Amino acid sequence: QAAKKGAYPYYMLKEIDEQPGVMRTLIQEYFNEDGSVKIDQELLDALSKADRLYIVAAGTSYHAGLVGKELFEKLVHIPTEIHVASEFAYNPPLLSEKPFFIFLTQSGETADSRQVLTQVNEWGYPSLTITNVANSTLSREATYTLLLHAGPEIAVASTKAYTAQIALEAILVKAYGEAKDIKAAKDFDVAVELTKVANGMQELVDEKGDIEKVAQDMFATTRNAFYIGRGVDYALAQEAALKLKEVSYVQTEGFASGELKHGTIALIEEGTPVVAIITDPKTAAHTRSNAQEVIARGANVLFISSRDVAAEGDQIILPEVDPLLSPLVSVVPTQLLAYYVSLQRGYDVDKPRNLAKSVTVE
Ligand code: G6P
Repeated sequence: QAAKKGAYPYYMLKEIDEQPGVMRTLIQEYFNEDGSVKIDQELLDALSKADRLYIVAAGTSYHAGLVGKELFEKLVHIPTEIHVASEFAYNPPLLSEKPFFIFLTQSGETADSRQVLTQVNEWGYPSLTITNVANSTLSREATYTLLLHAGPEIAVASTKAYTAQIALEAILVKAYGEAKDIKAAKDFDVAVELTKVANGMQELVDEKGDIEKVAQDMFATTRNAFYIGRGVDYALAQEAALKLKEVSYVQTEGFASGELKHGTIALIEEGTPVVAIITDPKTAAHTRSNAQEVIARGANVLFISSRDVAAEGDQIILPEVDPLLSPLVSVVPTQLLAYYVSLQRGYDVDKPRNLAKSVTVE
């Protein structure tokens, strides 16, 4: 039943719309009545013994891992590396003394990630798979599993699994911080923050007509585009770019906004769409000045900014949420943008060319 399209023309749109509900389900699944986090103590003990975390993933899950690294390092101060599975598999980094591995995988079947898990098991290190599919291969073969409870994701382009992964990473960080008695984590009321996120996501999906119009006005014929941002906005920019390119075939790059001027700005032409993601007060002014640099070279800039750092003329205003969780809301307009650009170009949004939902070859 959950996998039926119902009144939706495409699964991708249905799955985008389901995200506020997924946030609420995660709160129900992972919090006790008294507000404490419901995560296996054994897993928390194993995590607590680690001196470094290694997040391994592919595609959109890798991008959720970029945000996870920020959460783990900023809130609970554990060094965290994030690796592309296919790279790690044959070129592993130098490991710390007590590594702990986290596999992020919607399907639990990605061959590149499994290859790394097999190696990790041979080494004898502990691991956790965060997946949407109970009993999937990576779930069975890892030491621990946490489920995303996002419901079946049918569209090839991943949407609700990305936000579920980030939310669950935040819940895990909270549980870890509580176990280690870390003040920042104790003060971080994840259940309340995720409820705010759910409401914020709802506001955004309710206003999807605005994005449909932007898609038409700015992206109707373009062959290339850029997303720019700093910090978590850069992490988000990379996911936003992947989403747009995979369903609309617009060549899109997600760039650290300060890095664009060191070469890539040469690609900006009259009318090139550039989407600036601005949610962090510390770097808002810098990203705005980077946006001015591309405007001066003819780019057509779309500003997506949080309410607290918004400037006059910004086209998409994001509801305020905890700054570390901002990708959970800022991703929504970028998912919708990818969807509408694809739709307007007449493509099969759910089944983009050359792509598979789950890639079981290395
Ligand atoms: C495929 C899908 C992507 C997905 C990636 C990783 O390439 O098309 O949408 O992000 O695999 O999948 P996983 O199931 O491991 O998250």
